[in-house]
Amino acid sequence: MTSIIKTRDLHKCYWVGTMPHPALHGIDLDIEQGEFAVLAGRSGSGKSTLLNIIGALESADSGSVEVFDQNILQMTQDRRTRFRLDHIGFVFQAYNLIRVFSARENIAYVCQLQGKSKEESLEIANHWLREVEIEHLGYRKPDQLSGGQQQRVAIARALATEPQIILADEPTANLDTQTGRNLIHLMQGLNQRLGTTFLISSHDPDVKEAASRLIKLADGQIVDEWSTIPKPPISISSACPVQNKPLGERVRIKLNRMFSRRRRKQSPKDNSRHS
Ligand SMILES: Nc1ncnc2c1ncn2[C@@H]1O[C@H](COP(=O)(O)OP(=O)(O)O)[C@@H](O)[C@H]1O
Ligand SMILES: [Mg+2]
Repeated sequence: MTSIIKTRDLHKCYWVGTMPHPALHGIDLDIEQGEFAVLAGRSGSGKSTLLNIIGALESADSGSVEVFDQNILQMTQDRRTRFRLDHIGFVFQAYNLIRVFSARENIAYVCQLQGKSKEESLEIANHWLREVEIEHLGYRKPDQLSGGQQQRVAIARALATEPQIILADEPTANLDTQTGRNLIHLMQGLNQRLGTTFLISSHDPDVKEAASRLIKLADGQIVDEWSTIPKPPISISSACPVQNKPLGERVRIKLNRMFSRRRRKQSPKDNSRHS
């Protein structure tokens, strides 16, 4: 199986004046197409730094990051920006929506950045608003939406450029438990139906529970990692209709792959996955 994200011996240290703040210490990580992988670990363990480097938002001190076999650390700033726009969608803890734009315009904007016309971009925005089940709220500005609704707009915006990878940094951290669960359910559905790869940083137990692979960071290092049997999406009252559809061929392949990987990698630590 080929990795679509591959980091090798990744190091990063921030400097505040003469004070070093080490963030990553030799991260080797492989993420395969279609995974719903979760980066867990305490605050300060390096989750955001790792996501930002993989997403070409930040540079590293040393090591390599290949996304679709392209070493993004060696790209010029312009190429990185284009690469990000075409291949990677971001979802942030604080939603990061443009306040003066409506939900629909926030989504359409990234399509326009890709060079699409305004009309086409707005059509695409309508499609993704439907996908995240807030089509009726497209005209509202972010401050007229709840946290959960804003995060749905952010997910729609991340998906509107049709990226193969979504990087989500603590996407449920500002949401109440139920809204967070609805959002996880939505992301799982999109992962299973569209095959979009998700790499999510979180210490939310519900996000960890949904993971097909859990990668634990501590002090900038991967200290534990295990694959899990993918569970059906958590059952909630406002379930995304996607989840009611029968498992498709892609999901069956994924299940087989996960089972065989689990057999290969099963370790005594399996019982501690909720720690
Ligand atoms: N901009 C920054 N300036 C200085 N130190 C930083 C900066 N960003 C992150 N760090 C430090 O790097 C380490 C990892 O941070 P981060 O990646 O944000 O962890 P996490 O997302 O797991 O909370 C922490 O010690 C943090 O203080
Ligand atoms: Mg963080």
